[in-house]
This record gives sequence, structure tokens and C-alpha cells, in this order.
Amino acid sequence: MPASDTKLDLPPLRLGNITVDTPVVLAPMAGITNTAFRRLCREHGGGVFVSEMVTSRALVERTPESMRLISHDEDEKIRSVQLYGVDPETVGRAVRMLVEEDHADHIDLNFGCPVAKVTRRGGGAALPWKLDLFTAIVQTAVREASKGGLPLTIKMRKGIDDDHLTYLEAGRIARDAGVAAVALHGRTASQFYSGHADWDAIARLREALPDVPVLGNGDIWSAEDAIAMVRQTGVDGVVVGRGCQGRPWLFGDLMAAFEGSDKRHKPGLAEVSAAVYRHAELLVDTFDDENKALRDIRKHMAWYFKGYVVGGELRAQLAAVPTLEVLRGLLDQLDMDSPYPGADAEGPRGRAGTPKRTALPDGWLKDRTLSGLQQTDLAGAELDVSGG
Ligand SMILES: Cc1cc2nc3c(=O)[nH]c(=O)nc-3n(C[C@H](O)[C@H](O)[C@H](O)COP(=O)(O)O)c2cc1C
Repeated sequence: MPASDTKLDLPPLRLGNITVDTPVVLAPMAGITNTAFRRLCREHGGGVFVSEMVTSRALVERTPESMRLISHDEDEKIRSVQLYGVDPETVGRAVRMLVEEDHADHIDLNFGCPVAKVTRRGGGAALPWKLDLFTAIVQTAVREASKGGLPLTIKMRKGIDDDHLTYLEAGRIARDAGVAAVALHGRTASQFYSGHADWDAIARLREALPDVPVLGNGDIWSAEDAIAMVRQTGVDGVVVGRGCQGRPWLFGDLMAAFEGSDKRHKPGLAEVSAAVYRHAELLVDTFDDENKALRDIRKHMAWYFKGYVVGGELRAQLAAVPTLEVLRGLLDQLDMDSPYPGADAEGPRGRAGTPKRTALPDGWLKDRTLSGLQQTDLAGAELDVSGG
């Protein structure tokens, strides 16, 4: 059945005072969702395009990197920033700074990071287990954001592992604190990116929180997946991460699908090649450093060219490209008449990994409230963190 016959009757997504016509969110991805990539994505379709996460401590210290992370292009209509923090006071100060200095229109809090160096100290996806700390962080952030009329949302995983789920309680706490939406990645921390996202859990959260928008995240690789998630779970919008790596045009497909059209973008190699070059140029603008920009674009090569006919040697050279000039020369060697390869260019991409027991502070699971000793250790959960 053509999608146009099955149009979803999904209203625009409301995040506080912001109306998002296409109920789609570009998932915050450290090292990916910088101004360059956000621009490429929003040129194809509507939605909210969230920054790479920034730690609240680095932000209040105004480190140069954190100031870059919260910067936006002038034409970004919804300036969305994701914050990560473990201390209510520092998170509150970071939110206040974003509000008072007008750096953002929307703030998201990250409670989903599964990385051992973070969870080992009680941060990331381990944090919602401590109900008092989680409540204090979300309440403080909402209070500070509301002073500027900014919607504050949270993004989380299902829990630490299948025996220690946190999402339903955390969702209710966040709702009661006044968040504008709750996003759930349907995996536990111990799953990392392995297996499948549990869309039934997303449906359960949607049902448990009838009075706040719920956004579903995990394993949306195509517009059809997005529509399927909305149908299966009843969510108010979708959050798309790895599916758009090397495919910023997915946002065009998503917009079309939510508008009831079956039109899908199927670029041939010439168009992909142009997108790669443009991405690299935008990264040069973002970093103001060609060397750094070219190092960054390398990781996108395998995603952009997934399924396309590109010789092995050329692939290897693209993955080590040193300058824009060399990039131009390499891209010019591609067969520009090569068409869209179909299914080979679609499907899963990016991080996968294997399940592992989540590293936690000693005795973390014994109690749902924070002990003094654990509090001391938590500070380290915010140092040198990147990604979720
Ligand atoms: C490279 C990478 C970086 C990520 N960085 C963040 C981050 O900074 N903040 C966050 O909340 N989640 C982060 N995530 C998780 C994604 O936002 C998303 O929840 C996850 O990839 C699942 O969605 P997907 O199946 O659509 O990829 C990251 C994921 C990847 C692959």
C-alpha cells in the first residue's frame, strides 16, 4: 500500500512553546552532530537537530571546546543543546548560562551514556538509579530553563540492565518535574548498541505518561522504520541517530513519510560524492582547521559509500584523506554515472558493539539513594566524557 494511503495523523510535535512541524529529532551524537552535519541534515528536511553533548562543568568553565559545542549557525531556528551533568548545582548553572546568554532555544539532558568510564562513577545511564540525584538534577534544570521560557527535555535508556530498569520511574519523575518531553532509547546500558532496540518498552513509556510528549529512539534506519515505530508505540515523535550517518537525506525521506508521501531520496554516486565534499568543506568552516576537518570526515567515508561501487584501494585512500585538494582528486576518480545501489546502501550502520556488564561504583545497586561516599566519586563521572 503506498504510504500516501496510510498517512499518519500525527500532529506537530510541541516542545513547550516550540512547534516542530515534522516530529523528528536528530539524535545528539558526540563527534557527529556538529554545525556542519546539522546543516546538511536540515537542508533535507524538518525537525529538531540536537548538538553534540557538552558537559555542564566544562560549559560553566567556558572551555573553548564547550563553547564550540554550543555554537549554532545563524540560520538554525531551533538552537538545541544537549547537556550532560552529574551535579544538580553545576547543571543548574550551565542551564542558567545557556538561558541568560541566549545560547539555546531548547535544552536536552543526557542520561543515556553507557561508557564504562562514566557509569563506573555513577554517571550516564547509571545515574537514574539514584532517584534523589536524578530528581534533583531534572528539577533544577527545568526550573532554570523555565526562567527563560525554554523547553527542557531528557533522553535516557531503559536502565542499567534487564534486572535494573529505570525508565518508567525516571519518566514519571521527569514528567512531574515539568519536562517538555521524554525520549527513550530502547536499550539498557549493558546492551551498548548491540541487539535490537525494544520498541515495546517505548510503547509502555508512552502509555505510562499520557500527559507529556514521548519520543522513541533506536534502530530507525529508514522512513518506513520511523512510521512503523509511531504506529507500534504511539510516540509523538522519533529520534534518529546512526541511520542518518552518511545519509543526511534521510531527513527528507522522514519529512515525506510524515506528510504521507512515498517519495524517497535515492542518490547516485555523483550526488553522494558532492555531499561528502560539501560535508568536508563545512567541517573546515566549523573547526577553522583543515587538518582537523579532514581527520573528522574520514570516519564518515564508510557510511557515505556503504553499498556503492567504490574500489577497495580508493576506499582506503578516502579513509585516510589528508586535505580538501586530495579529497577532490579522489572523488573525481569515482564513476559519476553509478546509480543508487538499493538495499545495499540501506539498513544498519555505525556503532554496534557487544553486550557487557555495566561497570558501576561499589554497592551502587544496593540502594536507590545516593550515599555521601558515592557523591564524592561522582565528580569524576563528568571528566573527559564524550558521547552516549
Ligand atoms: C557516535 C555516537 C555518539 C553518540 N553521542 C551521544 C550523545 O552525545 N548524547 C546522547 O544522548 N546520545 C548519544 N548517542 C546515542 C544516540 O543519540 C542514540 O540514542 C543511539 O545511537 C540510538 O539511536 P539510533 O539507533 O537511531 O542510532 C551517540 C551515539 C553514537 C552512535
